[in-house]
Amino acid sequence: MSGFDGIGGNVTVDGEKLWSDILETARFGATPKGGIRRLTLTEEDRQVRDWFVRTCEALGCVVTFDSMGNQFARRPGTDPSLPPITMGSHLDTQPTGGKFDGIVGVLGGLAVLRALHESGRETRHPIELINWTNEEGSRFAPAMLSSGVFAGVFTEEEALAKTDRDGVRFEDALVGIGYRGAERCGDHPVAAYFELHIEQGPILEAERKTIGVVTGVQGMRWYEVTVIGRDGHAGATPMALRADALVGTAKLIEAVQSIALKHAPGAVGTVGLLENRPNSRNVVPGEVFFSVDLRDPDDAVIVRMEEAFRSTAAQVASESGLEITIELVWDSPAVRFDPTCIDAVRRAADSFAYPARDIVSGAGHDAVYMAGVTPTTMIFIPCAGGVSHNEEESAEADDVMAGANVLLRAVLDADERLN
Ligand code: GLV
Ligand code: MN
Ligand code: MN
Repeated sequence: MSGFDGIGGNVTVDGEKLWSDILETARFGATPKGGIRRLTLTEEDRQVRDWFVRTCEALGCVVTFDSMGNQFARRPGTDPSLPPITMGSHLDTQPTGGKFDGIVGVLGGLAVLRALHESGRETRHPIELINWTNEEGSRFAPAMLSSGVFAGVFTEEEALAKTDRDGVRFEDALVGIGYRGAERCGDHPVAAYFELHIEQGPILEAERKTIGVVTGVQGMRWYEVTVIGRDGHAGATPMALRADALVGTAKLIEAVQSIALKHAPGAVGTVGLLENRPNSRNVVPGEVFFSVDLRDPDDAVIVRMEEAFRSTAAQVASESGLEITIELVWDSPAVRFDPTCIDAVRRAADSFAYPARDIVSGAGHDAVYMAGVTPTTMIFIPCAGGVSHNEEESAEADDVMAGANVLLRAVLDADERLN
């Protein structure tokens, strides 16, 4: 343990128990391909939340939840006047999600609470573990919705009024699973926030690094696009008389791809959700709804990509007789994390002699919004092939344990340095 300065003593996490927690909770929403489908505020989400409560209470924590359903498991500190040092991530998944995205951060935080509990190690600050509601943004857009409310980026009222694609309101779904709490979201002082996560990209694995010291997160914007044409008979409507919304959409999807490629190497662009109406094999499509996700570490590049996309859309609309509307539904600018917290992670990785490198996150995380209200950073560990948002997402048990050990020491380091 070269470079170890004594913070944390010899306390380490129980890697085997952490791994068995990952496998145990993977039952809630398990898919045949070995992944998880645990959309936010569904029955599967309720099951894993109930498990979280039981398991944290068994470690002596007090578990509460706020008006957005964010769960907090609190281990008291020795100085009751201090706000908690927090750790967290999310237990919701994508429709075809894996066993690690978000889960490693929550269950890794649980491993930290367990290590403190079993060693009897005291901290000055309370230590809290947070399970954020609706990080993924798959069922209710946008992503990181409840950490966003916590940080004051969105109002609670607007968040509660969000609807899924079936028209179900967020508030009704939250009440339905019994997790709308009395504490107003955001009325919860915090001293710092640390989030452990899989990288979701290929860099750490390719460079054989165990730990990514995350310095920030790239910017991202989400758009909702509606293309209106005219329903028509597939056999009787001559090609020249069609206003085919899906053909116009195909051009726009291609544009997203080529605009991102033109802004290489950092930019990415994705159309991930598409609804074609009336979606009948012998009807010329009259309306299409789709999403666009644009990201780059430089916010100015995203602005240029948006301009290019809007101008392509205007051209497609006029050439094809379509009406195209583009609504910006989420703007999450690039974020730089707190230098003191970043140093705590770096020292923690060094103390275990884990190979580490600095890295910028391509994915969004609740840490983005927490960075606006408290000293914040993240810890990354590798995942196989950089594959994520995929049922085959996978990570090594030793890396998961290493990440949780770094989380433990970074939290203890912050406990000594912060007020
Ligand atoms: C969150 O999963 C994201 O889209 O980055
Ligand atoms: Mn995640
Ligand atoms: Mn995700």
